[in-house]
Amino acid sequence: MIKYLSIPKAALMAVLALSFLSATAQKKNDDAKMNAFVTNLMSKMTLDEKIGQLNLVTMGRAITGSVVNNGVEERIKKGEIGGVFGVYGTEYVSKIQDLAVKESRLHIPLIFGLDVIHGHKTIFPIPLGISATWDMALIQESAHIAAKEATAEGLNWVFSPMVDIARDPRWGRISEGSGEDPWYGSQVAKAMVRGYQGDDMKNGDAVMACVKHFALYGGAEAGREYNTVDMSINKMYQDYMPPYKAAVDAGAGSFMSSFNTINGMPATVNKWLLTDLLRKQWGFKGFVVSDYTAVNEVTNHGLGDLQTVSALALKAGLDMDMVGEGFLTTLKKSLKEGKITQQEIDLACRRVLEAKYKLGLFDNPNKSINADREKQDVLTADNRAFARKIAEHSFVLLKNQAQTLPLKQSGTIALVGPLADNHSEMLGTWVIAGDPSKSVSVMEGIKNVAGNNVNVLYAKGANFTEDSLLGARAFPFGLSQMKDKRSPQELIDEAVETAKKADVVVAVVGESANMTGESSSRSDITIPKNQRELLKALAKTGKPLVIVLFNGRPLALPWENEHASAILDAWAPGTEAGNAIADVLFGNYNPAGKITATFPLSVGQIPIYYNHKNTGRPFNGKGSAKFKSDYLDISNDPLYPFGYGLSYTTFNYSDVKLNKTELKGNETLKATVTITNTGKFAGEEVVQLYISDPVASVSRAVKELKNFQKISLQPGESKEVSFNVTTSDLKFYNNDLVYDWEAGQFIVQIGTNSSDTHSAAVQWSK
Ligand code: NOJ
Repeated sequence: MIKYLSIPKAALMAVLALSFLSATAQKKNDDAKMNAFVTNLMSKMTLDEKIGQLNLVTMGRAITGSVVNNGVEERIKKGEIGGVFGVYGTEYVSKIQDLAVKESRLHIPLIFGLDVIHGHKTIFPIPLGISATWDMALIQESAHIAAKEATAEGLNWVFSPMVDIARDPRWGRISEGSGEDPWYGSQVAKAMVRGYQGDDMKNGDAVMACVKHFALYGGAEAGREYNTVDMSINKMYQDYMPPYKAAVDAGAGSFMSSFNTINGMPATVNKWLLTDLLRKQWGFKGFVVSDYTAVNEVTNHGLGDLQTVSALALKAGLDMDMVGEGFLTTLKKSLKEGKITQQEIDLACRRVLEAKYKLGLFDNPNKSINADREKQDVLTADNRAFARKIAEHSFVLLKNQAQTLPLKQSGTIALVGPLADNHSEMLGTWVIAGDPSKSVSVMEGIKNVAGNNVNVLYAKGANFTEDSLLGARAFPFGLSQMKDKRSPQELIDEAVETAKKADVVVAVVGESANMTGESSSRSDITIPKNQRELLKALAKTGKPLVIVLFNGRPLALPWENEHASAILDAWAPGTEAGNAIADVLFGNYNPAGKITATFPLSVGQIPIYYNHKNTGRPFNGKGSAKFKSDYLDISNDPLYPFGYGLSYTTFNYSDVKLNKTELKGNETLKATVTITNTGKFAGEEVVQLYISDPVASVSRAVKELKNFQKISLQPGESKEVSFNVTTSDLKFYNNDLVYDWEAGQFIVQIGTNSSDTHSAAVQWSK
């Protein structure tokens, strides 16, 4: 057994202080070296070469607009391009990098970016699913594995994490974020940045993160993609900005500006946003890239022609122009005409070069390009095992009547639905390098896990949709070749006949990946009608009906919640989808995921989120609703609240015990609950801490998540869970945007989700 020497506390503090000082000194030294290097390099650069560094082009993959770049290879040699995205693979990347380092005048390496959003080749669940794990170690590791695979294929920059808070599930990109909560979103943002960048971006398995979309992109009016954002400054600071700020604090190397306007000013040309807030207030030291042709699109926002908006963007603090080439084609002219300054160009160029320096590209432009690593580190058995684990942890059990799940590993299962026997859909939206043929379908997963113990009968039952507009818009490359040509009724009839022969029906239904993600807003967030018709027919058979749901957003599921026996939300689980789903269906893993975005009863309730304000006329669902804040035709309550998710077991929460009920200044409050596993399965529970501040100088949210712990309990086992609460958990932005806490009463709430909590009150004085 190792014996630790007991070190006096003062000595320990001194050692820590010294190591902090030496780290700070080291950082200063590194910065000085970098500055000297970049200054020297820039002294040799022509104006054209400097502007070239600000130009980011796509080489083919990841096209998310109507413009693409041409003649890239020749222009790299001329020094007109600072970075490329949309390429990966050692052979190709090194060929392109060679054009820059061997054939351009100053041999400046390119930065290689890509939308690595939830894994590179080994695909993990979509980010909204990943966020449902409430497991920061798993989340960080998912980013690390993605970085490892991406670097093995020559990349050094990923356009992730997307940390946009979203409270409107009509918006398709809610799938790419971590839901509605600013505190939780901040934890995920930090974990992702750390996972991508590691301790040092020079490491061979580290990439630079690009935090997006700065800012507020998730607040698009009416949930319509690319739409205007307009919100109060208080809401912005309190609810939408924290995850971006957390990513800065975690050391994120780059940011991407968003497409939308903020206070009437497009983010891409918004000086307050890109310079005053991001750099001056928050201390961000990296570079900012625009989104895809976002500089050009400022013309559509009505701020002038390409030359004007490019100059505005540079002056605002935008350093790199993605795809549109407004910087490349107009900045020189603007400089001549005195519309921008040399210093502004130099500053942007310096920031881009610094990023390349931080990545170690000047010493080793091909640092991660290594054919062996491409074979050894990509889609490995370990990476796949991790993908299976994180997928299992991301699933949320939304309903489980009469313990329908887990299923017995015997008897006959009717497996139906358009997503039951499909490979590509397992990967979800935003998958560039993932190979659908490497993914495990639900059918295969069930067979892998249950083997010959169960008899699986399959029927497709429905196409993704029969709606011609949805079909045409969601599947621009054609839904028809994927469609079963039989009529909807014939498909349903076959499924019903299949169900009748089985002991249980597993219906794998929901959204195709094409209905989620970028440019995929929906006004109707139910399961497509033809699939619901299938479910209705299946329910009529009287067989237990288990829905395995694929979705890139919270869906409105009141019918499903009423009529299905069980609902397992699988999001889009990634490469190991089928295996992970089967593990959970058969109880090899007991689901513990919790939703991070509220599931409404109906689209009419949107935006709906747990941390709303109280209103002057709140309606608590009891008594008359007249002249109260409510609807005539629907409850105010969501179908499933933020933080909700069931388990195969049950947990009992004790009342909240506090170590004191009166506190002063910087004291720490300890809030404790005892949780008991009262069911028959071992299981994990996400214990959530919320705080309310009922009286303050501004109207506050009814409650706010401040912490959580994920614990495991054996059947019958109890555990005490304690949270330390300090005054930093009480802080908020007041009317002058000062971030502080105010003395008074606070209600501490601990529970299994945001609406099922036990509470206790404290008085906290200054
Ligand atoms: C547009 C998207 O908004 C952004 O998230 C993405 O990184 C770029 N296209 C590049 O593909």
